[in-house]
Amino acid sequence: MKVPLLDLRAQYAVIKQEVKQAVEEVLEEQQFILGEKVAEFEGRMAEYVGTSYGVGVASCTDGLLLSLMVLGINQDDEIITTPFSFFSTAGIIARLKAKPVFVDIDPGSFNVAPDLVEEKITPRTRAIIPVHLFGQCAPMDEITQIAERHHLRVVEDAAQAIGASYKGRKAGSMGMVGCFSFYPSKNLGGAGDGGVVLTNNPELAESIRLLRNHGAEPKYIYSIIGINSRLDALQAAILTVKLKYVDQWNSARRQNAENYHRLFRQAGLAAEEQGKEGSDPSLYRPVITPAVLPECHHVFHQYTIRVRDRDSLKDYLAREGVGTAIYYPIPLHLQKCFSYLGYKQGELKNAERCAAECLSLPVYPELTPTQQEYVVEKIATFFRKG
Ligand SMILES: Cc1ncc(COP(=O)(O)O)c(C=O)c1O
Repeated sequence: MKVPLLDLRAQYAVIKQEVKQAVEEVLEEQQFILGEKVAEFEGRMAEYVGTSYGVGVASCTDGLLLSLMVLGINQDDEIITTPFSFFSTAGIIARLKAKPVFVDIDPGSFNVAPDLVEEKITPRTRAIIPVHLFGQCAPMDEITQIAERHHLRVVEDAAQAIGASYKGRKAGSMGMVGCFSFYPSKNLGGAGDGGVVLTNNPELAESIRLLRNHGAEPKYIYSIIGINSRLDALQAAILTVKLKYVDQWNSARRQNAENYHRLFRQAGLAAEEQGKEGSDPSLYRPVITPAVLPECHHVFHQYTIRVRDRDSLKDYLAREGVGTAIYYPIPLHLQKCFSYLGYKQGELKNAERCAAECLSLPVYPELTPTQQEYVVEKIATFFRKG
């Protein structure tokens, strides 16, 4: 049996006619950059997440970068974030010559551990970038309280978390700004790169709008230096169609996650109860399933387990036709490009441990129960042999 990590063709098959029509309209109009379609999508995204303003940008990376640019972040500044994320969360900090300050994570949820944040704050700290990793919100109450106490800004990296919520508030609506990615594999994916920045602050929205278009206002007149980071009308038109389905797709992902949870327990691979911190897989059962925190509505952008012998399991599953991925094999503080920051191996232990043990399994909406049973059966066979 073949079980790919993601099957975007299965999704496209259902929405093909609507998407084609939306694309056709843009082609007929020949208005490709910004314009009405982008404005409409910006409004719909803001409405969906529950913010007042949306600004379409070329990617989430740019959205995060523009958010820090608006804050005037520069080389004297420090930004606190997680070492267990996609590169751009930290890359954009370094790009502005500011200093990424990494705080270790909770290995159960994979998100930043809030009790470790405050000790990293210095007079130079300007902002915190929490990442809602794999579709589950970071502990936003603690983070926003710390930010308020120390007068810091919160820039949410909600790239993986469209539709997720924390105590009833949607990801991307809790910080100063929320940044989303429409990279094709995301829960809401375009037909190329794309992103949006959401906020309730009209001045911020206006500044980001200006900066995404070189800083030009009016055309060819520049009082500030921006970048070219605009959302295409084609992307906006496709995303507007797909946004209608995102809740349905997220529910299917959640259902698939529940199935895995049950199947792993039925197979005796995961312990019935796992503490918030997770347990050492070598001491207990071979699989640690992802912790879903009660205050969070998880949308399972990824279903990530922790296992011993991760690399051998991954190879074995590949031979058996099951696609998996490692998000992320090397935590950010140990990446070569950040060696100048001086972090040492062993310094952020939980992130390092998760990097060594994590394995993301197929969880896309169209995955069938039979495919899931096959995945779990193969994992069981692997550990029986081992
Ligand atoms: C957590 C996180 N942040 C930022 C990004 C960057 O998004 P984009 O590819 O749209 O620039 C991604 C995308 O992979 C991500 O997963």
